[in-house]
Amino acid sequence: MKKTAILAAMSLANLAQAHSLDFAADKYTAKTAEVNGATIAYRAYEGIPYVSKPVEPEYQQINIYIPEAYFNGGSINGYSAATAPIFLPNQIGGYMPAKPGVPGERRHGGQPGADAMQTALAKGYIVASPGARGRTSPTGKAPAAIYDLKAAVRYLRHNDAVMPGDAEKIISNGTSAGGALSILLGASITDGDDRKLFVEIMGAADARDDIYAVSAYCPISILEHADAAYEWEFNGVNDYEKMDITMLDYKVERKLVKGTLDAAEQRVSDELKAQFPAYVNSLGLKNAQGEPLALNADGSGSFRDYVAAFVAAAANAELQKGADPAVLQAENPWLTIDGKRVKNVDFAAYAKAMGRQKTPPAFDALDLSSGENQLFGDEHQDTRHFTAYSAANSAVKGAGSVGRAAVKTMNPLYYISEKTVPQHWRIRVGTKDRDTSHAIAAILAAKLQNSGKNVDMAMPWGVPHSGDYDLDELFAWMDGVVKGK
Ligand code: DHB
Repeated sequence: MKKTAILAAMSLANLAQAHSLDFAADKYTAKTAEVNGATIAYRAYEGIPYVSKPVEPEYQQINIYIPEAYFNGGSINGYSAATAPIFLPNQIGGYMPAKPGVPGERRHGGQPGADAMQTALAKGYIVASPGARGRTSPTGKAPAAIYDLKAAVRYLRHNDAVMPGDAEKIISNGTSAGGALSILLGASITDGDDRKLFVEIMGAADARDDIYAVSAYCPISILEHADAAYEWEFNGVNDYEKMDITMLDYKVERKLVKGTLDAAEQRVSDELKAQFPAYVNSLGLKNAQGEPLALNADGSGSFRDYVAAFVAAAANAELQKGADPAVLQAENPWLTIDGKRVKNVDFAAYAKAMGRQKTPPAFDALDLSSGENQLFGDEHQDTRHFTAYSAANSAVKGAGSVGRAAVKTMNPLYYISEKTVPQHWRIRVGTKDRDTSHAIAAILAAKLQNSGKNVDMAMPWGVPHSGDYDLDELFAWMDGVVKGK
């Protein structure tokens, strides 16, 4: 990880007394949760600072939940106090500041019934939910949130010997901006050079911060190329339904405002779309057979086929579950179904049917109005550009641009390589998600796979921008990667 100049905002060290980073096993509240008709007893350790010198204490803290059984020599789901994996769900949405999660609190959306944290406890996981600073908090501009998550991991590893659970089996989970940060937490690597930042400046524990596995739902990631990716997918779709607030976040109720791109916006769309093939081709990605994933100048090509194949797989899964091929075909004219198999996905028609949700540029807004503009601000300018295109075409006089170092620190593609520590990755983005291009998750999956990682990637059918909707499958995957199945 490279940091250097980005640290100014973080060094406003709190003058209050430094907190201990040692886990206090006797400071808990006894709680229970009902999960599938069974009662699980657990100990709640809430509001623990994970850095000794928090600058924003309400966010730089972690909640830890531990099944009671592990204090009595018990086991759950084949796990014991020594072997239980640690589920690390962040609650980050919209790159906003996030408090630590609380089981059953449902700030996270997801499926009905027990939430991800309650389900984790019932399945014998330790739950550790970190808070993190975000774009509206005084010191929360990029890359503060990723440093905070890493500091939380350091806290867990520092306490591995005294806390039930195995800090070598930490599995991160997050949705949207939280999904992007979950991926970044797994991908980024810190080394001796980062010790000063974490230990001396932030007051984090002097411990490793790599994790075991990563789960991410609909990651809003690779921000510096997300504008081009969005237009690659939605160019030609000129009608839109845009959110009427700048505070994009998968957790808030969404109100959509209809409109149509004007001529200038359509030109921006064309220009951004034209950037994407060269970018994808520069990545040198390959499919599982080792064949190149590339794009032609018009946006067609093997990479587009790769993305479309995930959509086809989702439709095939519906057919396998018993969906009527004639009905599926009639409802989705962009599919060609032959018998009981999808033969073709017309990608442009699929994008049109889904509909555009963002106006170009989708992320680095020319008027600096996006949440991402605020993420890349600093203490002098609340919002800034983070792409060369939007800086050059800015609608705001005197608009600033963030430096390359901060942009890179937020982009997992700079880190993913054979050296990336987590071997196990699970990425989900629904076929109905329009918050970022499906290309983003596809690039991440291909890059991870090409780096020798075990990647479970799918685009669940009909699912919009959301997370934690498939907890049985999520925990089956986690048990599998922990138990080596
Ligand atoms: C989120 C959604 C967005 O559309 C975006 O640009 C950033 C974050 C979110 O739900 O976290």
